[in-house]
Amino acid sequence: MLSDESAKTGCPRNRRQVHRAIHRAKPGSEAEGAPHDPDRRHHRQHRPGRRSTAVAQWVEEAAGRHEAIKAGGATVELVDIAEFGLPLLDESVPAAFGQYANEHTKRWSEKIASFDAFVFVTPEYNRSVPAALKNAIDYLYAEWQNKSAGFVSYGVQGGTRAIDHLRVTLAEVKVADVPTAVSLPVFTDFTFENPMDPTETGRVTPGPHQEPTLFKMFDEIIAWAEALKPLRAAGAAV
Ligand SMILES: Cc1cc2nc3c(=O)[nH]c(=O)nc-3n(C[C@H](O)[C@H](O)[C@H](O)COP(=O)(O)O)c2cc1C
Repeated sequence: MLSDESAKTGCPRNRRQVHRAIHRAKPGSEAEGAPHDPDRRHHRQHRPGRRSTAVAQWVEEAAGRHEAIKAGGATVELVDIAEFGLPLLDESVPAAFGQYANEHTKRWSEKIASFDAFVFVTPEYNRSVPAALKNAIDYLYAEWQNKSAGFVSYGVQGGTRAIDHLRVTLAEVKVADVPTAVSLPVFTDFTFENPMDPTETGRVTPGPHQEPTLFKMFDEIIAWAEALKPLRAAGAAV
């Protein structure tokens, strides 16, 4: 969030967010992995029926109701990792050297470099983050540095342990993670036609306390991104 480009306009900055999954591919489409094409199915990067799209859309809609964002102090962009076609890390040079050989890495680098802050939307998989999200973080280094981040997690138990793991990983790439986070337990903050059907995506129906918490997190992210601006300006020297 808080993009440096707003400094040119003198406004309080642009706010943006990144999360792991926004656009859910149509069944049978290229992104979804056509069923008759075993290679594409092999390279799919998300769970069919994932709930991340709905959660990310709730975050985006709520951002439109946040005072500072409404006032134009920040802008929000949704980023779906699945759209970047990242295989398991296939760069021979570690990201800290900033020497990327592959087009998918360059595209991902350009996108993440354009933000000043992030909201990670993540489920919890086996007490941690999905492999696709960890992989996407590992691809880059300088692009994450001296930016702020917050988290919206979901899962059977709300996904708080995924957030805990993300905080440790992001510390290594110098992301300043704010304390306030939103967690959405699947059985209280989603609505299902048939709660016993594990393939049903359901609808996000957060409790009334969730949006104020999200707004508090937005406030923290915006403030920290602003505070970190001198370090971002110093770039590789830091
Ligand atoms: C492989 C896997 C592991 C999971 N592990 C956990 C877990 O440790 N804790 C939890 O609360 N929910 C867990 N869940 C439930 C998911 O958080 C929940 O189904 C969520 O909607 C999955 O995210 P997605 O819909 O974006 O794929 C797990 C689900 C999967 C598929």
